[in-house]
Amino acid sequence: MLTEAQLNQIPSPCYVMEAAKLAHNLSIFERVQNEAPVEVMLALKGFALFHSFPLMRSVLAGASASSLWEAQLAAEEFGKEVHVYAPAYRAQDLPAIVPLATHITFNSLTQYERFAPLLAQGQAKAGLRINPEYSPVQTALYNPCVPGSRLGVRAKQLGEKLPPGITGFLSHNLCESDSFALEKTLSQIEQLFGPWLEQIHWLNLGGGHLMTRQDYQVDHAIQVLQAFNQRHPHLRLILEPGSAIVWETGFLVSTVEDLIPTPDFTHVMLDVSFTAHMPDCLEMPYQPRIRGSHLPQTGDLCYRLGGSSCLAGDFLGDYAFAQPLQIGDRLIFEDMMHYTLVKTTMFNGVPHPAIGLWQIDNTFKLWREFTYQDYRSRMG
Ligand SMILES: Cc1ncc(COP(=O)(O)O)c(C=O)c1O
Repeated sequence: MLTEAQLNQIPSPCYVMEAAKLAHNLSIFERVQNEAPVEVMLALKGFALFHSFPLMRSVLAGASASSLWEAQLAAEEFGKEVHVYAPAYRAQDLPAIVPLATHITFNSLTQYERFAPLLAQGQAKAGLRINPEYSPVQTALYNPCVPGSRLGVRAKQLGEKLPPGITGFLSHNLCESDSFALEKTLSQIEQLFGPWLEQIHWLNLGGGHLMTRQDYQVDHAIQVLQAFNQRHPHLRLILEPGSAIVWETGFLVSTVEDLIPTPDFTHVMLDVSFTAHMPDCLEMPYQPRIRGSHLPQTGDLCYRLGGSSCLAGDFLGDYAFAQPLQIGDRLIFEDMMHYTLVKTTMFNGVPHPAIGLWQIDNTFKLWREFTYQDYRSRMG
């Protein structure tokens, strides 16, 4: 844990990745790859801070992209394998994606039929996203298998033989899930898509495998993957987690700009915004952990945290602290690497947090600061 003096070296607001914590997470994936017949890609949609790719590249097998721009970033900054999947490719993007990708997965048979001839110009292997019609995810917004989902081909849409040229399947149906959900997914795939597994060479099990959460049973996941491999030894297994790679590897520093007392609680006005900088807190929704805070108990001074945009709902609560808060205090939002930096906006013209690295030698390295020009350049 950083001391107060160390924290004061960091500007506010600022996203800070912790190199030692990333190294710890990578060591878990290294073990999984060593002990299970599986290769792991970083899903850029969850985390695309390319300054950290040199740390990741030594362990992970590549990156997965969901658009041309992510594919470009993967090819330029990550190297190794580039797996691309998009819900619908634009005709003008595919010619640029083909030379960058090692694998291109299609969401529908119609898109594959339309674009298959273009693949002849590159080396990329073609895949289909399948819908395994099972997901443990309770929040509909994050559940790719809700009835009527637009994501993936259902078994009943496939003919007896796969279209010529299809060499693999992608199934993404998990989110912050455990090894038992992985096990269930595999048996569901065998049940629904068993007849086609003989016709493909690779199976990408998507993201949502939260192998770096403390209670994740890594041993069980390894056993599950080994057992599947024994049943289907010809299939190369791939995972493409985003969240799990950077789970609990960094925080967001913010500052208290104002305190507004009310009879029931005190509004804490911050220099960060939930909607602009931590949107999943409002979308999922969930209440992020703040260093040194606890849930209010009877008798506690109760604080409601207000974001810096004018959106009425840009607030979260409630929190209590051991000491009353003061203007100028710093609040540290924990676990703010995944699905934050990739989703930020400059809504209301609020300043975008800087980005930096807390290095192994306990010094801070500033990677990026944002200016008015960054805001302006997006508008024309
Ligand atoms: C196709 C696909 N692969 C991988 C991921 C990464 O998932 P996670 O960050 O939950 O591991 C996602 C997330 O939406 C996805 O849609």
